Order: sequence, then C-alpha cells, then structure tokens
Amino acid sequence: MTQMQMDKPKLYTPEGGIVLHNDNFVPGGIPYANNVANILRSQLNRVKRTGPSFAELYGLNAGYLEGVMKGENPMTPEIVQAVERHSPLSAQELIAPGYRNRVPLIDDSKDGVVIVTAQQRASTERTTQRGPEGRNFYKYGDPSMQRYSPIIPEWIQELYVHDGVNPDTPDWAFNKGHRERQTTIFIGDVNFHWIDKEGNKYVVQTNTGDANYIPPFVPHTFTTRDGNGLILAITGLGAIGTQGFQQKIQGMTLQEYQNIVQAELPMLAEELATDKLNGIMFRRYADTSTSDAGAYTMRTLMDGIPYQPNSRAVEINVKQGGNPESLDIDTPTDKWGYNTGNVPVVLYWESHQQELGPGDSFSIQTNVPFAVRNTNGLEGKLVMMEVNPEKEDPMDLIALINRHAGQKGVDRVHSEVMQWF
Ligand SMILES: [Fe+2]
Repeated sequence: MTQMQMDKPKLYTPEGGIVLHNDNFVPGGIPYANNVANILRSQLNRVKRTGPSFAELYGLNAGYLEGVMKGENPMTPEIVQAVERHSPLSAQELIAPGYRNRVPLIDDSKDGVVIVTAQQRASTERTTQRGPEGRNFYKYGDPSMQRYSPIIPEWIQELYVHDGVNPDTPDWAFNKGHRERQTTIFIGDVNFHWIDKEGNKYVVQTNTGDANYIPPFVPHTFTTRDGNGLILAITGLGAIGTQGFQQKIQGMTLQEYQNIVQAELPMLAEELATDKLNGIMFRRYADTSTSDAGAYTMRTLMDGIPYQPNSRAVEINVKQGGNPESLDIDTPTDKWGYNTGNVPVVLYWESHQQELGPGDSFSIQTNVPFAVRNTNGLEGKLVMMEVNPEKEDPMDLIALINRHAGQKGVDRVHSEVMQWF
C-alpha cells in the first residue's frame, strides 16, 4: 500500500541517536526504511501486541504510535528503543536495508537457548476482545522467543465458548489469515475453525495432543467447549522470510513481484496433504504412534507438511534421569518446546543445565545439540516443534498459498499491513 509509505526516509539525528538496550550508540544519520510504518505494524503483529498495549508497556504515546504505523507521524528514537527492548523484535528491521549492518542484531540467548518460566509468561498475560459486544476472546501470554530463531511461538487460552459443532461461526470471530504459516498443538477442549478459499466455514472439536497445520492466509480461529482450552503454536514466515528472499522482493513493485511469481511458480502435485480438509491439516492424537529413541519415547504429532521436509511436532516422554552422557537431540532445525507434564525435567546444552518446570517453554537455535533428562525417576513430558526454513523453497510456499488463499494471498506475501490477530 504505497499511500501508507513515507514520502522520504526519516533520519536518525546525531543528537537523538539510537541507544540500544546494551548502550550501543549508532552515530551519524541512519535512514529508516521507506516502509518503516508497515514494518512497525508487522512487528507488533508478530508479538501479538496492539498499539495501545505496546505503548503502555514502554510508556509511549498510543495516539502518536498509531500515527507512526499509519505513516502520518515520523518515527522517534523512543519507539526504536522500545522495539529493541522487545525481543524478538529488533531495531535493525526499521533501518533502510543498505544501512542495517550498522545496527547490530544482538543475540539475546544463552548460548543458543532461551527458557521462559510459567511464572514469567503469566506476567505477560493479556486478554483480547472480539465481536460487536467486545466479548473476551483470547488470553495471550509470551512464551520463550529469541532473535536468532525464525519461530514465533504462541501461548493462547481460548475464552469464547462454542459447541464445536456448528461451523457457522460469525465472521468477527475469525482472523483474516496471516502471512506466517502455523503449526498448533491442542491442550484441553479446543475447537479449531477455518475458512477455505471459497469462503466455506469448518470446525473440528480437538482434544489434548491433537495437532494441525495452517498455511499462510487461511483465516482461522479457536474457541473452547468447556473453558479449558489452550493452544501452543509456532508460526513463522518460513522460506518467504529468509533474508535472501526478502532482499529479492523488497525492492520490487507489486507488479514486478507478480511477474516474477508468474514466471517462477512451480506446478504442485495433484493432491497435497492440505487438500483433504480444504486447506489445512489436522491429526488426532489417537492416530499417532510412538517410537523408542534411547532416553526418550517420541510420538510424532504432525509431519508430512507440504514442502516443509524438516518440520514436525513431537511429544517427548523423558525416560532417563541424571546427567546425559551425550547431547542426544541434534537435528538441524530451530526448535521450540513446552513442558506439558506435571513434573520438572532438566535441559542440558553446551556446559549448561537448567530446569524446565511444568508450563515452562524453551527456544533452541539450529545446530545447538541438547539433551533432556528427568528428575527423581519421574517420567517427564514435553512437546516440541521444529522447522528449517533454509531447507525450503519460497516459490513452493507461494504455490501452496496460491492453492489455498488464491491470488489475494499471493499478493499479501509482498505487502502485508493489516492487524490480523
Ligand atoms: Fe494463527
């Protein structure tokens, strides 16, 4: 949406500067990205924050912030600092592409790992409303996230009660579909609703351990039958979010982008795993099976996602206790996980070890080998989801988007500005 872009890049002034949270000072005038307004909006979307809630968190003026996201007000050093303080967001993303090397992307992990306790997450919980009467709809919390991971996780309690039978849920209950693809693990009694390309609505009743996959731009929502619904999800841009692909499309007009897509779009298989249920995948816990993997029993909750060969969701039962002789989980993927059991386990990596209590979550960078061991002989239970966008092809993902969200979805890969959550 060009009318929302700034006419001219706004400059950091040497006086205002930008002071990062580790007191790095970037000297000189560094221009913001031309579409800094859109970038900021998409950043807040990514961390499920509205303008007012982000403003409150960092003592910003909410009205002014909204004006910045509309492209009406200039960016300020205070907003840049707030973004930098809000991991996994980074001030670097707000800078003109040619200058980004002058703003460091700070690794906020402990040697590749970030753990967030249930208590820390609880302190971030916030309730959002939907619908004409402003009904309480979701409670969001911030589980473990980090800058050096492509995974944006979600911890969402469902507050809106629905029987999970009648698919004719009001439009306001749905999002508009988001640019990130999503894998979800269900806990408790959740209903999963989605809308296909033709506008047909569907609903399925889910139970603990069921899992889904939602391609980008497929509108969806979650409700609860009994008030005890929780979803754990990972979202991410996948291959369309890699630096290489973003650099390729960022300088293009929509028309140029459409031309490239038309020329390069691959033919997809006649039938995909996402076709059977009209645009999504869903798997029941009862239909999954386990395999023995040394210290663990692994249950694959979701895999076989089209064009995501390294993506999967697993449930891990931790059978062994004590110190690990080897860091026995070593797959080339970024990982996010959550202790769904009733007892703590211990995570080991490099020379570190840290307890993961019930409800604690962890994020692990790719190529960081680790192990999990139980304590006091009590079998622990985790869920973990994995991705590797570098092993995926952006054009495959765009073809999948074309299949389930049409040309509108394809165009939204190029320019996405709406608040969707
Ligand atoms: Fe979603």
